Amino acid sequence: MSLLTDVLSRIFPRLFKAPAPAVEIATVRDAPRLSQLHRASFHRGWGADEFEQILIERNALAHRLRQGRTVIGFIVSRIAADEAEILSVAIASNQRGRGYSRDLLRTHLGHLAGQGLKKVFLEVEENNRAARALYERAGFRVVGRRERYYKDASGEQLNAVVMQRDLS
Ligand SMILES: CC(C)(COP(=O)(O)OP(=O)(O)OC[C@H]1O[C@@H](n2cnc3c(N)ncnc32)[C@H](O)[C@@H]1OP(=O)(O)O)[C@@H](O)C(=O)NCCC(=O)NCCS
Repeated sequence: MSLLTDVLSRIFPRLFKAPAPAVEIATVRDAPRLSQLHRASFHRGWGADEFEQILIERNALAHRLRQGRTVIGFIVSRIAADEAEILSVAIASNQRGRGYSRDLLRTHLGHLAGQGLKKVFLEVEENNRAARALYERAGFRVVGRRERYYKDASGEQLNAVVMQRDLS
């Protein structure tokens, strides 16, 4: 969506209702865009080379959210034995709050379950309300806590919670 369409769609939501974005498998070619989205979302953003490293691994699964020609979100997991860990999920800041991450997560979990995996884990900053709401709504529950796990831009140390969900 262009900036103009995005602004108009906020003023006249009915006239400019964008079609629901598509959830698709992400590949190593998406690495630069995923890095851009990650850097805009997290204090310690991952570079395109870091995404490339992850995405070429056979035990990685990544989905992208595509609106028209623009990738507006992603989710990436790493698989080990019969478990997966969600490494990161992000939606472009101008597309948040529209329920898109729910679709992305639902599809991603479906693929993990389809591979016969039994459990999914993730770590999330304790006060990240949007992410916690997303995961809780999807059936994740808190199974642990990590003190001073993240640092924010001001250097403040933040706690993380570990969340888990069964896939079977
Ligand atoms: C977390 C994130 C992916 C959620 O994406 P999103 O598309 O905006 O979320 P959705 O619109 O699908 O909403 C998901 C849930 O979060 C809730 N939510 C959204 N924004 C919220 C906010 N600012 N505060 C509290 N709850 C919020 C929604 O109400 C919804 O809950 P519900 O299903 O109970 O109604 C997005 O905010 C993001 O990219 N954040 C930056 C990166 C990040 O923090 N990733 C997670 C790291 S583990």
